[in-house]
Amino acid sequence: MNTINVGVIGCGYWGPKLARNFNEMPGTHLAWVSDLSEERLAHMRQLYPEAHTTQDYHEVLASDVQAVAIATPVSTHHQLAMEALQAGKNILVEKPLAATVAQATEIAETADRLGPVAMVGHTFQFNPAVHAVRDLIASGELGQVYYINATRVNLGLFQSDINVMWDLAPHDISILLDILGMEPSQVSASGGIFVRPQCRIHEVAYLNLHFPNGILANVRVSWLDPVKTRRITVIGSKKMLVYDDIAENKVILYDQGVDVPPYSDTPEQFQLSYRHGPETIVPVQWREPLRLECESFIGCIRHGRGHCATCAGRGTLSCSQAWVGVKVVRVLEAAQKSLLNGGGRELVSL
Ligand SMILES: NC(=O)c1ccc[n+]([C@@H]2O[C@H](COP(=O)([O-])OP(=O)(O)OC[C@H]3O[C@@H](n4cnc5c(N)ncnc54)[C@H](O)[C@@H]3O)[C@@H](O)[C@H]2O)c1
Repeated sequence: MNTINVGVIGCGYWGPKLARNFNEMPGTHLAWVSDLSEERLAHMRQLYPEAHTTQDYHEVLASDVQAVAIATPVSTHHQLAMEALQAGKNILVEKPLAATVAQATEIAETADRLGPVAMVGHTFQFNPAVHAVRDLIASGELGQVYYINATRVNLGLFQSDINVMWDLAPHDISILLDILGMEPSQVSASGGIFVRPQCRIHEVAYLNLHFPNGILANVRVSWLDPVKTRRITVIGSKKMLVYDDIAENKVILYDQGVDVPPYSDTPEQFQLSYRHGPETIVPVQWREPLRLECESFIGCIRHGRGHCATCAGRGTLSCSQAWVGVKVVRVLEAAQKSLLNGGGRELVSL
């Protein structure tokens, strides 16, 4: 197996986690790391003395690395991704893929035209608990999905370049696309700015996503909440489930619901019958999602797009190719329009 040399651009909070994985994975070599900050590079040199470091990412693009992971602020994703693709590199761009649909689309189209792998870091698409939820929905265990509620809140980290929706909601939107296998047709969003009014950056946001077959999903994201919560509840006609990413038992299936009698002659008969069946812990074979994401990226480089072990028969969209990133940015862009225009419904245009 040939070793694949990897460069990581951006070594703030998230980049070092990518660097760790590429350093530990068999068959990859962390060859370069780049950051504008010399302090961050000094830290990376301590961790990875064998890696080259540079404040100028062009050096990474001019090197012999085959793969580049981009973990810089969102506003820089498009330029870095385009330059990396034009330099012939396979790219893994952190979420969200880009700051606009036009930019994200250009990245995906350029990758298609030039050939390299272009992936977006939708880490939760590689989360085994999300896979368990997706499989339960697909198997019909829950019946018809009525609605989904997603909560992703905690105290901090306040960002200075993007609002809370662009920061946290890409995770929930990518999860929804993955577990439902479809895109919403409309979205609305409202939110609040409380702590830093001068920044005009939303710190709390509520999104409502409307899917074509009537499924409704609500996503609540906040940097201003005392309890860290990463929870998704799926309500189906037969059963319900809760996926709590922080809990030890991450997915719990509830055999609960409400059955309406098929006919009724009296008001008494017209009663809803509540089912309170057992709760079942759904087994999840846990592995670090980011490791699976990095393995998928390298697997796609080795074996061709959509042919890594994670994709296994699920088509290219399953392993978070750039086009999935475009879909998520499409929802975010429509939601942003709604957020700034009083919370009305916006079409998620294709
Ligand atoms: N997948 C996840 O769960 C997850 C989690 C956190 C962050 N992220 C994503 O990772 C990306 C980075 O987020 P972060 O929290 O690490 O931000 P950060 O601000 O902590 O780090 C960004 C780093 O990029 C560096 N940088 C900026 N421009 C550069 C350039 N031209 N060349 C080299 N370095 C440059 C900065 O100096 C900084 O150190 C964002 O897209 C974010 O959404 C993903």
